[in-house]
Amino acid sequence: MSNDGVNAGRRRFLVAATSVVGAAGAVGAAVPFVGSWFPSAKAKAAGAPVKVNVGKIEPGQQMVAEWRGQPVFIVRRTEEILGNLAKLEPKLADSDSQASEQPSYVDAKTRSIKPELLLLVGLCTHLGCSPSFRPEVAPADLGEEWVGGYFCACHGSRYDLAGRVYKAQPAPLNLPVPPHTYESDDVIIIGVDQEQA
Ligand code: FES
Repeated sequence: MSNDGVNAGRRRFLVAATSVVGAAGAVGAAVPFVGSWFPSAKAKAAGAPVKVNVGKIEPGQQMVAEWRGQPVFIVRRTEEILGNLAKLEPKLADSDSQASEQPSYVDAKTRSIKPELLLLVGLCTHLGCSPSFRPEVAPADLGEEWVGGYFCACHGSRYDLAGRVYKAQPAPLNLPVPPHTYESDDVIIIGVDQEQA
């Protein structure tokens, strides 16, 4: 596709990144953290860990955090979503993430520490657009067999709700899972490995 498609995707990411700031602010207002914990803007750009409260994510919904200047999708998956993951495997290019980027401590299939909470770096592995969260079943534009996932509008790549790419897509690999760990049931630190916590 033309450069226009890619640029449109980047614009979308900028819009998404802007809204992330708003979402993070709302979470921060609801759950007071110790102020001194937050790293400086310079430290953040260099890749400092980011603490996120996921307690208000409804089942089946997503919030977007920001880490190292990248969007991080955080989804609270339902039993139905988790049940669909196994059914989709024959359609996926790398269903157990042998070739894709994910920490060793996440499950190979669900790609998460806790099954219900999924974290993904929200940049398409084709050319880096930010895919859209499309949790609905069988929407008109994605077809009857769609059971929820991510759709990259730049060149049409499809991923499931574990960030695993379908076969024969422009994107070669699954969406990466960032290093992360749980500080408590509702607080995740992105950028710190589970073993090191
Ligand atoms: S950037 Fe090309 S399909 Fe996502």
